[in-house]
Amino acid sequence: MSLDISNELECIEKVKKINEGKNLKYLILTMGCQLNENDSEKLCGMIEKMGYSKTENLEEADLVVFNTCCVRENAEDKLFGKLGEVKKVKEKRGTIIAIGGCMMQEKHIVDKLKQSYPFFDIVFGTHTLHQFPSDLYTKLIENKRIEDILDIDGEIIEGLPIKRNDNIKASVTIMNGCNNFCTYCIVPYVRGRERSRNPEDILKEVTELANQGYKEITLLGQNVNSYLRSGNTDFNSNVKSFADLLREVNKIEGIERIRFVSPHPKDFTDDVIEAIRDCDKVCKIIHLPLQSGSSNVLKTMNRKYTKEQYLELVKKMKERIPNIVFSTDIIVGFPGETEEDFEDTLDVVEKVHFEQVYMFIYSRRVGTPGDRMENQIPEEIKHERFDRLKALVESQIEENNKKYVGTKQKVLVEGFSKTNSNILTGRTDSNKVVNFDGNEELIGNVVELEIVSEHMWYLKGKII
Ligand code: SAH
Ligand code: SF4
Ligand code: F3S
Repeated sequence: MSLDISNELECIEKVKKINEGKNLKYLILTMGCQLNENDSEKLCGMIEKMGYSKTENLEEADLVVFNTCCVRENAEDKLFGKLGEVKKVKEKRGTIIAIGGCMMQEKHIVDKLKQSYPFFDIVFGTHTLHQFPSDLYTKLIENKRIEDILDIDGEIIEGLPIKRNDNIKASVTIMNGCNNFCTYCIVPYVRGRERSRNPEDILKEVTELANQGYKEITLLGQNVNSYLRSGNTDFNSNVKSFADLLREVNKIEGIERIRFVSPHPKDFTDDVIEAIRDCDKVCKIIHLPLQSGSSNVLKTMNRKYTKEQYLELVKKMKERIPNIVFSTDIIVGFPGETEEDFEDTLDVVEKVHFEQVYMFIYSRRVGTPGDRMENQIPEEIKHERFDRLKALVESQIEENNKKYVGTKQKVLVEGFSKTNSNILTGRTDSNKVVNFDGNEELIGNVVELEIVSEHMWYLKGKII
């Protein structure tokens, strides 16, 4: 059973009444990952039902909502920088400032806000997102500052309104939280333990999306292949695992593509590999976060696999799933990383030949074991390694792009290019951006293109 949200739905109606006829506007700043973006879509759903319409222009915003991230340090700099700007607008027009998301689950950050940015109106955490309507209502009625943060894991919430960013591709969160405690990572502390959604609720949501014309679904979770393996798993459903879920989503008519992020290499069981192979709609690009290629570093990171096991998994998947390719996340400069360890990372990158690598410089996070380790790597070494990894990745992408030229690719057309409104843009199954000439009616369809040329971050195609 999911939590009863009738009080929140009532508050939505009450705020809507208060706001009636005022033509109010809101601006939302989403600072994190795809889960954070999906949370923002829920916030937008609630906020728009309360009578606010969306603006990108801070000067005219009556409500500003920050949906924060804290996975790396730059997220904090971004929030504090922006708050200064928003303060000025508040002084002019009484804008309500609400700050939510992962960073608000960190006590030292909320303390800093109270100390140095006391002009905010509402803070809320990851476990209380659904209470935004009652928080806003209380703020409007009592005009006092609201702190709505819980340290215990929030329950699964179903039935919140949602306003999606796109009408072709949609994200569906299948689980909250993480149990892995990688030693560099703050996520388990701010998102709590793993809780899986009822598979029937997920399938209902995807079916509704298909009926609304959505073509691509991304299933989201911090560790999607441990879906239904921990927490409450007592659901009345035939779906008993992540592999089952993939097979059921694959049956939903109208959906053409299924993606998922992120799986954990340690949990990549054979049933998931077989489901990927068997399900025609599951894209044959798998995001498989490596983090480091060194078994020593992986051990101190608490990743629970070695370099050899990772490479073995890739090999097994390549053998069993025709044309499978990979993308990954890599951290450079984790405490204790030696030159030799770093070379192991380069070695795995060379061997796997990833389609895409998201590269990060290790960032110390308060409260994590990594932050307490003594052998931190000097900044200049971290940067030097980052640059070397980047050069290798870019040379591989260039090489890889060349292989596309002359091939036929199925491309899901997403719309007109942001930089040139005469050109259509879409993505291949392997998530490569392809630009091409074509007319508006193609938007939302999968078309077959021949790739005619390659550029660093996109390919050019023509309709066959
Ligand atoms: N649950 C997912 C994603 C976690 S956050 C997973 O396990 O893959 C996304 C990425 O941010 C991680 O994969 C990691 O590469 C990076 N990251 C997390 N904590 C970090 C830190 N302290 N410093 C630098 N990068 C970090
Ligand atoms: Fe962080 Fe590791 Fe959990 Fe991913 S699996 S969210 S990197 S602790
Ligand atoms: Fe995502 Fe950042 Fe939170 S990566 S889970 S928004 S800390």
